[in-house]
Amino acid sequence: MDVFVVEGGRRLEGRIRVGGSKNAALPLMAAALLTDHKVTLRDIPNLADIQNMKRLLAELGCHRINESAPDSDGVHVFQNTDQTECHARYEIVRTMRASICVLGPILAKRGMCRIAMPGGCSIGDRPVDLHLRGLTALGAQITYEAGDIIARVPPGGLRGTTIFLGGRFGSTVLGTANVMSAAVLAKGTTVIESAACEPEIVDLANMLVKMGAKITGQGSPRITIEGVKELGSVDHRVIADRIEAGTFIAAAAITNGDLTIENCPIDAMLSATDRFEAAGVDIRRVNGEDELMRATIRVTAGRVIKPVEFTTQPHPGFPTDLQAQFMALLCLADGNSVITERIFPERFLHVAELSRMGANLFRQGSTVIISGVRRLVGAPVMASDLRASACLVLAGLAAEGTTVIHRIYHLDRGYDRLETRLAAVGARISRVDDKTVPAAATE
Ligand code: EPU
Repeated sequence: MDVFVVEGGRRLEGRIRVGGSKNAALPLMAAALLTDHKVTLRDIPNLADIQNMKRLLAELGCHRINESAPDSDGVHVFQNTDQTECHARYEIVRTMRASICVLGPILAKRGMCRIAMPGGCSIGDRPVDLHLRGLTALGAQITYEAGDIIARVPPGGLRGTTIFLGGRFGSTVLGTANVMSAAVLAKGTTVIESAACEPEIVDLANMLVKMGAKITGQGSPRITIEGVKELGSVDHRVIADRIEAGTFIAAAAITNGDLTIENCPIDAMLSATDRFEAAGVDIRRVNGEDELMRATIRVTAGRVIKPVEFTTQPHPGFPTDLQAQFMALLCLADGNSVITERIFPERFLHVAELSRMGANLFRQGSTVIISGVRRLVGAPVMASDLRASACLVLAGLAAEGTTVIHRIYHLDRGYDRLETRLAAVGARISRVDDKTVPAAATE
C-alpha cells in the first residue's frame, strides 16, 4: 500500500488549481440514469470514487460512451443503453456509500430499484431513513431482503406531495438528491421542505433543469418540482470543489505561504472564508467580480494564526468536510480554539493522530478544544477517512521533520494527485510503497 512521506517546514508558494467537485459529480453521474439521451459531464475529477460510480453505472447499463478519452480530460459522456438491470450490488455499494444516489433515479426511470443498504463508515452510522421517508411519501413501496432495500413504483406511478426531509442533524444532502431526482419524473407537484441547500444540490437541480425538469427553489430549504414525462440530453460542467479549495487555503495558511488558487468557488464557501479570515488568513480576489463560483484568489498568512471557534452545520454553515483540515491549522494557533461537530458527532478520528504529532487537543463529546502549540513534530500517522487524511497532510506540511501518512487510499477517494499538485507549489511530499518505511504504531 502507498504512503505519503512529507518533509515539513516548506513554505508553499505559486499557483494551484481546484478541480471539479466530487460530491457534485457523483449525483450528476447518477442522474444520467434518468434519461435515454446522452449526458455529457465536464470537469469530472479523476478519483477512486468516480471510478466506482462509473463501474456501478456500467453494471446498471449506463455506459461511458467516450471510454477512449483519458479520464484526466474530465469529459464523461454517459448513455443509458440497457435498462433491465435494477440491482446495485453490495460488492460495489460497500466500496462507496454515495452509491445510494442511484436509488431515486433508477426507481423513477425503471419502476424498481434494489440496492444494498450502505453500512456505516468511520465518520458515523450514516442511516438512509430520510431518503426512504422521502421516496415513500412519493408512493414508493419499500421492502428489505438480505441486506438490500427494494423500492417499487406503485401501479399509478410516483405522485408529487409535500415532504419534510429534515432529520436529527438537519437536512440530508444525498437524501435531497434522491428525492428530487425521483420527483422530477413523478406526476404532479412535489415540495421538499428542509431540503439541503448545498451548492452540490443546486448544481444537480440546475443540470436537471437543463434536461427539461421543472425545479425551483434550489439553494433554499424549499425546493418545488413539477413532474415531467421525460428528460432529454445535457452538456454540463461540474462546479468546482469547495472542499478542495478550502484544503488549499489551509495549506497556504499552515505553511505561512502565498498561494494563488484558481477555479475557486468562493461564493459557496463564505462560512469557511469567514473563519479563515478570523484566524488571520488574508484572502483576496484577483479576478473580476463576475465569476463567483470560479474565482482566482490569493491567500497569504502571517506567522501568527489566531484561535477561532466554529460549529459545523448544513450549508451555508461551516462544512463538516473542512473540519479536520481547519483543526490542523488551529493546532498551531496562538491560543485556545473550539470546534463543535454538528453533522457527524463522531468525526474526530484525526484527533488522536494530531496528538501524536504534538498537538494539544481535548475532546468531550462532539466538541474539541485545541490549545495551540508552537510546533508540530513529524511522526508516522494513520489516515482514517478522506478528510482526516487531508488534515494529516496539512499537519505534515507544517511539522518539523518527517511525517509518514499510512492508508492514503482514503485520500485518493477525494483528491486527485494531491501530492503532485502540492509538490508543484513547493511541498516536499512523495508517494512511496509502505514496505520502504516503518509501519505506523497502530497498524
Ligand atoms: N442522516 C440521517 N438520515 C438519513 C441521511 C442522513 O439521519 O437518511 C444524517 C447523517 O447521519 C448526518 C446528517 O444527517 O448526521 C447529514 O448527512 P447527509 O445525508 O447530508 O450526508 P450524505 O449526503 O450522506 C454528503 C457528502 C459528505 C458530507 C455530507 C454532509 C457526498 C457524496 N457526501 O453525505 O461528504 O460530509 O453530505 O455535508 O456528497 C466527504 O466528501 O468527505 C463526505 C463525507
